[in-house]
Amino acid sequence: MSNKDVNAPIGVFDSGVGGLTVAREIMRQLPNERIIYFGDTARVPYGSKSKETVTRYSKQIVRFLLEHDIKALVVACNTASAYALDEIEKELTIPAVGVVKPGAKAATEATKNGKIGVIATEGTIASHLYDTYITNLGGDVKIYSKPCPLFVPLVEEGLLEDPVTEEIARRYLAELIDIDIDTLILGCTHYPLIRKTIGKVMGEGVTLVNPAYETAKELERVLKSNNLLNETKPALGEQQYSFFVSDAADKFKTFANTIIKYGILSAKTINIEEY
Ligand code: DGL
Repeated sequence: MSNKDVNAPIGVFDSGVGGLTVAREIMRQLPNERIIYFGDTARVPYGSKSKETVTRYSKQIVRFLLEHDIKALVVACNTASAYALDEIEKELTIPAVGVVKPGAKAATEATKNGKIGVIATEGTIASHLYDTYITNLGGDVKIYSKPCPLFVPLVEEGLLEDPVTEEIARRYLAELIDIDIDTLILGCTHYPLIRKTIGKVMGEGVTLVNPAYETAKELERVLKSNNLLNETKPALGEQQYSFFVSDAADKFKTFANTIIKYGILSAKTINIEEY
């Protein structure tokens, strides 16, 4: 059990804006919690970088978040969860939640025909962590993975329901349709934002698993078991959500306001290389 104050914030980080889909779920499901979000906008993408680099970046961000006296950590980035969570946890005295494990669990619960697809960045697919977690959960399940690197820039360009995105989705997903998967994990922070397009291409019979939703549920469970769940709203005048980035705060703010409807008042740029 942690001896932290229940009013302390939760630290959430991602390689950039994508983790806001996870922050949004935490805001929805745990409306009393305070959040400090860090988006590594100067060094995004993580999905094509090595395990060593992603781990080094992640550790710097954790050092920054710990300065804000966070009571729990959420690694909102799939690639960082896959490559760095184990290493980070070794150095932490507060609970940490990644996005991969909750997504894997939800998929095994959802599948009926035992064929689960995973779409993610190249890094997450190469780590095989979704496969490992799903296999460890037991059951007669087969996993089919497919990296979809073009989805991230398409989302960042705002082409969420665009014919170009749909065409690329058809090409990426054709093999998963042929295999007849019945469950598909959206294993990258950006993919829930093109859920409609992915759903249209996959067809109604395929359950789309959004790890962001499952992660917020897992966070609630972890906070409860550590007596860290905040039962009361933050005090009047206290800032509930703060956002930090490593570059281009204005661009982040504009994008973030399209994802989070709670109103992002400001995003501050910090030099993450100093950590
Ligand atoms: N946040 C990353 C992830 O979920 C996607 C963007 C990137 O490649 O950095 O894997």
